[in-house]
Amino acid sequence: MNRHGHHWRLMTVTGVLILASAILISVDAGRLSADPSEAKTPALSLVQKGSVLYEKYCALCHGPNGEGYLADDANALSNPDFLVSASDDYILQGILQGRPGTPMSAWAKEEGGSLTLEEAWTIVSFMRTWQKEPSIVLSPEALKGNAINGAALYERWCAACHGKQGEGVNAPELANPVFQQTASDAFIRYAVQNGRRRSAMSAYKDTLNPQEINDVLYFVRTLKAHDGPRPPIILENEEYTADAMLKGVLNPGKPPADFSLIENRYVLADDVFAAYNAPQTFMIIDARPKSDFLRSHIKGALSIPFYDIESVIGLLPKDIWIVTYCVCPHALSGKAADKLKTAGYNKVAVLDEGFFFWQKKGYPSESSPVPEINK
Ligand code: HEC
Ligand code: HEC
Repeated sequence: MNRHGHHWRLMTVTGVLILASAILISVDAGRLSADPSEAKTPALSLVQKGSVLYEKYCALCHGPNGEGYLADDANALSNPDFLVSASDDYILQGILQGRPGTPMSAWAKEEGGSLTLEEAWTIVSFMRTWQKEPSIVLSPEALKGNAINGAALYERWCAACHGKQGEGVNAPELANPVFQQTASDAFIRYAVQNGRRRSAMSAYKDTLNPQEINDVLYFVRTLKAHDGPRPPIILENEEYTADAMLKGVLNPGKPPADFSLIENRYVLADDVFAAYNAPQTFMIIDARPKSDFLRSHIKGALSIPFYDIESVIGLLPKDIWIVTYCVCPHALSGKAADKLKTAGYNKVAVLDEGFFFWQKKGYPSESSPVPEINK
């Protein structure tokens, strides 16, 4: 209880700080997005910085041009209807806090991600260069609706893609705590009325009347997240050393694991679990940003985010199997595996089904340093 209260206070303080700096900086970013043709040299270099960071951290899921759906359900960030309706702050908070419980990590340094606030802003500025239509001024209409009627309409028109409880089937999670905290009623209404061009999200303004849309929105607002907001995480400064890598060897001194791969690349979770229990010697690398690792990971896995993998080449052993994983289920782990293979590591495999599957199976996972805070 006490501990939670403490986290909450810390969270609030962090939130206020982030908000305060967000407001300070958004003046500049706002001007940038308003008229890109006016961009001067310093602003341009902001965009260039953002482009480099986007390419490094985001493109493998959202696509090099924000077209989306490169990995699973990473939606289209360059979608015109998204860009005209999403505020800079909504996008920024999405980047910093992610969407807990989905492949979208929290990228804020404070949470174990890799981006400072300033860097996250450069990505927002870069994303704005995709925007060809002026931003819409969303009117903050009061939301009056009937949740019961809304539930029925939602079930009929939305649940197939967004999930009965907003848990997301092949569309964004509407029950996600960060989405619920950062998306305004007006933003959600715009998405429902106008849809997202060239995506599975249709415009509902001709299907549902304004009252029905209000009812659906009202219901969407009642969706309870399956997962609470995460507490801030204090990071120790870790360095990649050969000693640290050695700690990641599972079942040292036992016979080495020998995996048979699918398509010369993937290993099944059941096979990894069998080697885990046998016990046999091998290694597991969590390729997600550390923010995800800290929340929950395969027991005994080493945290080496895909963008850090170059730092451990030469430090990792070459004679035992190394299994990489993420939740996407292959985008980040595949990238990490490819870099290792290019560097001459031959015994590298990608966990086929990804981490969520591993957890669903009840195979050993743990969280650190704070206990899991959901349910
Ligand atoms: C491992 C794949 C992956 C990577 C890497 C990734 N994302 Fe995402 N992102 C997703 C998914 C999946 C979602 C949708 C989550 C949901 O709501 O279900 C998402 C959602 C978002 C959203 C919210 C969009 C909306 O419509 O509300 C933003 C903004 C975003 N990502 C930006 C980024 C940026 C910027 C980066 C790089 C710093 C990044 N993402 C890296 C998978 C990824
Ligand atoms: C056929 C599948 C499908 C149906 C049905 C559907 N959606 Fe969507 N929805 C999507 C997809 C896919 C996206 C993301 C599109 C993109 O921007 O790439 C989306 C985006 C959204 C967004 C924006 C979320 C974000 O993070 O940006 C909202 C809000 C939304 N849908 C609400 C609804 C509601 C309410 C209904 C029912 C009236 C509904 N949707 C019906 C597939 C669907």
